Amino acid sequence: MRARMLDLLSAAQHGGYAVGAFNVYNLEGVQAVIAAAEAESSPVILQIHPKALLHGGAPLIVLCQTAADEARVPAAVHLDHSASAEAIERALHLGITSVMADGAGLSYADNVIFSRAMVALAHKHGASVEAELGQISGTEDDLVVAENDARLTDPAQAVEFVNETGLDALAVCIGNVHGQYRGEPQLDLARLAEIRRRVSVPLVLHGASGLKEQHIREAIRLGVCKFNVNTELRQAYLTAARSALTGAKPADLSDLIAAVVAAVKTVVLDKLRLFASGGKA
Ligand code: 13P
Repeated sequence: MRARMLDLLSAAQHGGYAVGAFNVYNLEGVQAVIAAAEAESSPVILQIHPKALLHGGAPLIVLCQTAADEARVPAAVHLDHSASAEAIERALHLGITSVMADGAGLSYADNVIFSRAMVALAHKHGASVEAELGQISGTEDDLVVAENDARLTDPAQAVEFVNETGLDALAVCIGNVHGQYRGEPQLDLARLAEIRRRVSVPLVLHGASGLKEQHIREAIRLGVCKFNVNTELRQAYLTAARSALTGAKPADLSDLIAAVVAAVKTVVLDKLRLFASGGKA
């Protein structure tokens, strides 16, 4: 059944677990995420990156919404990392109930102005807004931020940011990275604890691919209730596709589709267990 992301996050925040938000690009990705969530009786978020939206357009949003409607678990559909007011407006018109207004590349003042405007727009549509304070480095599709440009979330500024924008969920930067971590991930958990102490909105951690079990557990304990995962899903998809195409048997399209769905589902299942959201549907 289709759910609103904010409702899923509020339940997670009070229940001591986190909801996985998985980036999807096509039907196979959507099927894998929903199948894993159903197998675990877990709530889940189907998340669309602007690059995926550029390629998939309105049909991709409708696909996610239909899959969410038909799912046997609560499933929300979310627009990820959107720095474009037009893309957000378009997604809202198509019925998306949750968007990430990404003003992280702007100055603090401009991030406030952009995020506040997107909150006003989204709330008019009855939708919620996730916004980011600080900036996470790494690569996700066309979104590339150099390590030098990473900025951690300032806990005192987070209070101001939440109050000035009226956002519904805060994406924090505590050493998390999009894409591959170089070496062991170093999360600033003391900073996370301080942010949680000061703000009460649901906290979001991007770049969950590559985080170890102890990072995830600690982050949940310290208030994270949404994890974003993309890289590990894409890797599983591509590895399965490659081996289906280079196997001894001539590649068959239905076999290739089944192989990629199974591979992505395995990763999602693993993450849902780490996020402790199984049985919370
Ligand atoms: P990863 O690609 O590192 O898993 O990050 C995904 C993400 O944060 C989506 O917004």
